[in-house]
Amino acid sequence: MKKDFVDTQDFTKEELIDLVDLGLLIKENIKAGFPLNVLYHKTLGMIFEQSSTRTRVSFETAMTQLGGHAQYLAPGQIQLGKHESLYDTAKVLSRLVDILMARVQKHESIASLAKNATVPVINGMSDYNHPTQELGDITTIYEHMPKGKKFEDLKIVFVGDATQVCASLGMVVTHLGGNFVHFGPKGFQLNDHFRKICEENCKKSGGSFLVTDDESALKDADFIYTDVWYGLYESELPEEERKKIFYPKYQVNMDMLKKCSPHVKFMHCLPATRGEEVTDEVMDSEYSIAFDEAENRLTAMRALLVYFMGVEDETVAICKKNLERK
Ligand code: CP
Repeated sequence: MKKDFVDTQDFTKEELIDLVDLGLLIKENIKAGFPLNVLYHKTLGMIFEQSSTRTRVSFETAMTQLGGHAQYLAPGQIQLGKHESLYDTAKVLSRLVDILMARVQKHESIASLAKNATVPVINGMSDYNHPTQELGDITTIYEHMPKGKKFEDLKIVFVGDATQVCASLGMVVTHLGGNFVHFGPKGFQLNDHFRKICEENCKKSGGSFLVTDDESALKDADFIYTDVWYGLYESELPEEERKKIFYPKYQVNMDMLKKCSPHVKFMHCLPATRGEEVTDEVMDSEYSIAFDEAENRLTAMRALLVYFMGVEDETVAICKKNLERK
C-alpha cells in the first residue's frame, strides 16, 4: 500500500481502477441512505495556498460523511510560509492530524510535505498536476462510457491550453490504455516532459497519444474536455493576448461538438469562464457532464480517504452488507 497520493503515475492501472470502484461503491451506499462511520474521530488537515471550491468542499464533506473531521488551514491562518518552514509544518501536523491534503503553488512543496510527514499526504493540486481531479474524472468517464465500448476504445480529446489538468488527464488516460489527444495551439501544447511520460505509458498500456493543432483530431471523440485559458500561472501573457490565441478555434461550442462522435460528452474541471473556453449552450446541454464530474470529486475524495486511512476492507464489507439488505 502506498503512503501518499502525489502523482497517479505512482499507482498501477489496477490500483487506480480499484480506487474508482471503491469510490463508486461508497457513493452507492451513501446515496442509498446508509451512514458510514469508518473514519470516526479521524482528522484531515487541509493546507490551501490557493483558493478552491470543489477540492476544499469535497474533502470536508467526505470527512463529515465518513464520521471524521476536516480542518481548513488557509494562508495567513497557520505559521507556514512566515515563521515556520514546510519541514517543521510537516513534522508538527503529523503529530496533530491523521492525514493531510495540500493545494500548493509549487510541486516541490507537495513532494517535500509527503517526504517529511509521517501521515499520508494527498496532492490537492500543484503547478505540475491535479491527481484528485484525475481520479474523479476517470470515475465520471466510467459512469458515462458509451454503450459497447471499453476504456481502451475511448478517444478523449483535451481542447486548449496545456494546463496541469490537461497534463494530468493525458497521463491517466494513457496509463489506463485509452486514446488521448491534446488539441491546442503551438506554444501552448504539452511539453516534452509530459509527452515522454504519455508515450511511455502507451508502450506499456496499448493506448495512444497525439498532440496537434489540426481540428480533424476531433473526429470520433467520445469525450471533449477543456479548462480555462488564463489566470493559472504567475508568468503568463496578459488575458487579452491569451484570448486572441485560443478564440475562436479552441472554444468548445456546438459547432465543435458536431465534429465529434454523435454521443460525445463534454467535461470541464471547473471553474469555467462561460463564453470563453466553453459556451453556455454547451455547458447547459445534454452533452455536458461537467456537474456530474464536479460531484465525482467527492466520490474520489471518499475513496482516497478510506484507502489512505487503511479502512478499505472494512468499508467494502459494510457497504456490501448494507446494499444487500436494500
Ligand atoms: N477543479 C478544481 O480543482 O476546482 P477548485 O479549484 O474549485 O478546487
